[in-house]
This record gives sequence, structure tokens and C-alpha cells, in this order.
Amino acid sequence: TAEFNEQEHLTIGGCDTVQLAEKYGTPLFVYDVAHIRERARGFKQTFNSLGVKNKVIYASKAFCCLAMYKLLEEEELGCDVVSAGEIYTAIKGGMSPENIEFHGNNKTKEELAYAVEQGVGTIIIDNFYEIELLSAVLKEKGKKQNVMFRITPGVDAETHEYILTGQVDSKFGFDVNSGQATQALEKLLANEHFVLKGAHCHIGSQIFSAEGFLAAVEKMLLILNEWKQTMGYTVDILNMGGGFGVQYTEADDPLEPEAFVKAIVNGVKGQCELLDYAFPEIWIEPGRSIIAEAGTTIYTVGSQKVIPEVRHYVSVDGGMGDNIRPALYDAVYDGFLANRISSELPEELRIVGKYCESGDVLIKNIELPPMEAGDLLAITSTGAYGYSMANNYNRNPKPAVVFVENGQDKLAIRRETYEDLISLDCD
Ligand code: LLP
Repeated sequence: TAEFNEQEHLTIGGCDTVQLAEKYGTPLFVYDVAHIRERARGFKQTFNSLGVKNKVIYASKAFCCLAMYKLLEEEELGCDVVSAGEIYTAIKGGMSPENIEFHGNNKTKEELAYAVEQGVGTIIIDNFYEIELLSAVLKEKGKKQNVMFRITPGVDAETHEYILTGQVDSKFGFDVNSGQATQALEKLLANEHFVLKGAHCHIGSQIFSAEGFLAAVEKMLLILNEWKQTMGYTVDILNMGGGFGVQYTEADDPLEPEAFVKAIVNGVKGQCELLDYAFPEIWIEPGRSIIAEAGTTIYTVGSQKVIPEVRHYVSVDGGMGDNIRPALYDAVYDGFLANRISSELPEELRIVGKYCESGDVLIKNIELPPMEAGDLLAITSTGAYGYSMANNYNRNPKPAVVFVENGQDKLAIRRETYEDLISLDCD
């Protein structure tokens, strides 16, 4: 569904990507703001149309910067953060502290103290060590804190094992089967500094179907109902985490975002009716599904190498420094020429980056018309976990990020300079 203008240039958000490349340089992340808003609203409206009290909490780790937080605030989304650095950025970006929830399996005492001082709305307690640490922080400050606790429901969602998080053998959350989750609940309820709002689970990321979520809902309600009966505790909020899959290439066929929400809501309703459990407020934490497809990376084509009968390599001016996902997860992306429409026969190509490493591949196999040095290549759906996992390997500066909407472009993150690269070095 790429759109080209009369000059046969790819346009995004009404902006000509060739002009954007001239103005900001390449590699360049271009974010379609209308798409982000649409996704944010889609989630919220689905909940609202079902009459369900909800909170849609964007997972900052997928991509964050000041401009992104400003946008989230405009769209009335909360955000989840996993470090004091993300809390700092969120607040600087204008996010209301009460709309921030703090995750992580090893939050430091300093981070917890910072979160409490800043008035972070919810801290999701992950483990027994954190119960002690946060309790000590709150005692010192004489404060109470809204908290939830993270439960590992023991669900194996079908995704890459590196991004699986809800299975029993996970570093995150309290295990249900061994009784640890129950012990945690006892401790949380007995502590006057904690205001326990509910339970959280997150089964993984880039999940295409509702099954894993429904299995998690079932397991969560089972244990919640047990706690209701044995301890008289009922949650106000059930937080089902994120993980809704997106389309990287045509081969990917995830449910629509709204369908995930409907499935979760119906699942919770069904279980609550079955168990006669009070229907809780539902929170979700989508990251990728809000931001992935909104992002496109524009690269400039440079050298090529043709090994007869073997391979045709096309090198671009970025690579594993701005998108490590293919190297790390065998992630598959799609791309096309952005600066002209070619009618030449496509060739089988491998798109590689400029980093000094053979694994620096962006697209392993793709059919594209012949390209020349100076052509622009657009790689799509790079909005999630691209810039946020960017690095300075080989001392390449991180790219610029531009937000586009209604024909207007706005720099969201400037390109790093060589001075930036040595700014932390001490001689
Ligand atoms: N909530 C929690 C507790 C999470 O751990 C995560 C992601 C999310 C929400 C958001 O998940 P999403 O909706 O974005 O799938 N770097 C990997 C993904 C790591 C995801 C970690 N947790 C990648 O590039 O695929």
C-alpha cells in the first residue's frame, strides 16, 4: 500500500521521502504519526465500545523519545517503562507520572526511589527481592505506592524463544505452580506501604493469534479465583501485557489489534461469569503493535557485489546498528525502491549493511529491480525495536528520526554527530 507521488517518490504522511532524505540524510527513520494515532485510538475505542474500564499503556521499550511521549499524552495513553532512564525521558516528554507503570525484573533501589519520588503511578512488582527493596524505600519516605504484581502464568505462546516471557522457565514474575505467587500476594497484602491494585502477566511478543492470550486469561482467572476463596482478595485490575503481532512482510498474518482486545475482553468476561468473579478493569501494554508499522527506514544504496551463480549483495548506508533484529532474531523485513518506480525485471538480492560483520544482513532474500548507487531503499515496519535497540557499533552515529503528518515533517531525534560519539570518552 506504498504511495508514490508524481515524481515517483515514495510518500509517507504526505511527505516526499526523497526530500526528507535530502533534508535529514540517511539512514533515516520516518514515522507516520497518523498511523500511530490510529493504532492508539483503535485499542482505546475497542475497549470503550465494549463498555470496559481500561488503560492502554504503550510499552516504551519499542520506541521512545520526547516527541513520542508528547504524542502518547495527546492520545491519552499511559506508558510502561523498564528503567529510570525511560522514566526520566517520559516525564521530560510531558507524560503524567500517574500514567506511567514501572516494570523490570531487577529494578535497583535507586530506580525504585526515583520512581516513588517522581510519583510513578504503578510499580509492577516482579520478585521477592523487589518486595523488600520497595518496601524499604517506601518506609524511608513514609509513602504508600500503588502496585501490581507480575505472575508467570505458564503459557507457551508461539514466538521466537528469545522473546518468550510467560512460560514457566522465565526470569520474569512470580511462579504460580510452586506457590510463589501466593506467597507474594500474602506479603503484598500484609504490607501497609503497598496499595495492591491487581495482577499482571505478559506472555510474549509478536504473537499472531488470540489462543495464547485466552490460555493466559484462563490461568489467571483460575488463580485469582483461588485467592478470592482462600484469602478473600479480588483484583481491581487485570493487566494482560502486550505482545500483539504485526505485519513485517506479506507472509505475516496477525489478528487485527482490535480483535486481540475483543478476544481478551470476551475471555475475561466468560471466565468471570463462569467463576462468579467480579469483572475487573483491563489494562494492556502494546508496544510493537502501536509503533512497528508506523516506521520506515530510508537507506541510500552504495556498493554492490555480484558473485556469479552465487549471490548479489546490495549494501546500504546503515545496518545492524540501526536494526539489529535480523541479526538477533532472524527477523524478516520487506523493502522497495523509494526514489523511482522501475519496470525492470526483479533480481534476487541480499540487502546488507555497512558494519564490519558478515551477519550484518538486513534482508536475506528479496526480489527487487536492479538498483544503482544513490538509489533510496525503504525498509518497512521498522518502527518497533529498531531505533530503541540501535547502537554505535563501529562508531557509526545513530540515524535521525523524523515524524511526518499531514505533509509536515518534524525532527524527533537528530542524527548523532562524531562529537556525540566521543562525548563520553575521557582522554
Ligand atoms: N509488557 C511487557 C511486560 C513486556 O515485557 C513487553 C515486551 C511488552 C509489554 C511489549 O510487547 P510488544 O507489544 O511490543 O510485543 N526486542 C524484541 C522484543 C522484546 C519485547 C520485550 N517485552 C524484538 O525486537 O522483537
